[in-house]
Amino acid sequence: MAETPRILMCPPEYYGIEYEINPWMNRGVASDPDESRRQWWALHDALTGLGAAVELLDPVRGLPDLVFTANAGLVYRDLFLSSRFRYGERQGETPVFDRWFADHGFAVEHTPDDHHFEGAGDALFCGDALLAGYRFRSDARTMQWVGDRLGVEVLPLELVDPRYYHLDTCFCPLAPDSAIYFPGAFDEYGRSVLRDRIRTLIEVSAEEAFSFSCNAVVVGRSVVLNAGAPKLARSLGRHGYEAVPLSLTEFIKAGGSAKCLTFRLDGEDAASWRSAA
Ligand code: ARG
Repeated sequence: MAETPRILMCPPEYYGIEYEINPWMNRGVASDPDESRRQWWALHDALTGLGAAVELLDPVRGLPDLVFTANAGLVYRDLFLSSRFRYGERQGETPVFDRWFADHGFAVEHTPDDHHFEGAGDALFCGDALLAGYRFRSDARTMQWVGDRLGVEVLPLELVDPRYYHLDTCFCPLAPDSAIYFPGAFDEYGRSVLRDRIRTLIEVSAEEAFSFSCNAVVVGRSVVLNAGAPKLARSLGRHGYEAVPLSLTEFIKAGGSAKCLTFRLDGEDAASWRSAA
C-alpha cells in the first residue's frame, strides 16, 4: 500500500501579478482574487479527496508567489535544501520557507552563494536519478553541487524555451521508469537523455503543454492537472493513470499550475516511487 502523500500548500490570500519574471506574467492582466481562491481550494480538496494530507503554510502579504510552494526547496529524507531564487522578487520567500521547515523537524541547508536553485520546480527525482532543469532559474553548477551533497546521480537537462522555465512545466515523473514530457522544451541532448533513461515517456503536444498539462500532481494513479489536455488524458488512461482536470487559469497568469502550487513533504523521490506501489 502506498503511504499517505504529505503536501505543503499556501492559500492565495496575497497572490497576484505584481511583477513580471517569466513570459506568462503581465501586470496588465490581473488575477481575480475570488476565482483564485475557488480554484486553489478545488485543487486542495481534490488532493485531500485522493488521500493526500495537505499542510498549510501561512500566506504573507507582499509575497504573491509564495503560493508556488514547489519552489521552496528540495526535500531529501530529513534534509531541506532551501532555494536560492534567481530574482529578487522571490528572495523574500526564503526565510518564510526556512522557518516552516525548521519548525517541522527538517535540517535546513542552503546552496553556496550565487548558486541559484529553485527547488522542486527544477529538481525532480525519477527513480534514483535527480533530473535537473537548468538555465532560466537554477544553474547547472548548482545541480552538480546538489547531486554531490545528496550523494545522488544528477541528469542535467538544459531548458531551451523561456515559457518552460522550470523543469516541472515540461516534465512530470509518474513512476521510477515513466514520465510525461514536452519534447520542445529540451534540446536534442536532453531529449536523448530522457529517452535513454526513462522507459515509458508520454509525449505532450505543444498545444497541451501550453495549457500547463505537464505541471501535474501525481497521487497514486491519479494525475491532477489543469483542464485542457484531452490527448494527454487518453494517453494516461492507456498507461493505467486517470487524469483529474481542474481549472487553474488564475495561476497560469503567473506561470504556474497544479504542481507548482504543491510541495511533496515526503520527498520528490518518494513521490515517484510511491505512485508505483
Ligand atoms: N511566478 C512564479 C515564478 O515565476 C511562478 C512559479 C511557478 N513554479 C513552478 N514550480 N514552476 O517564479
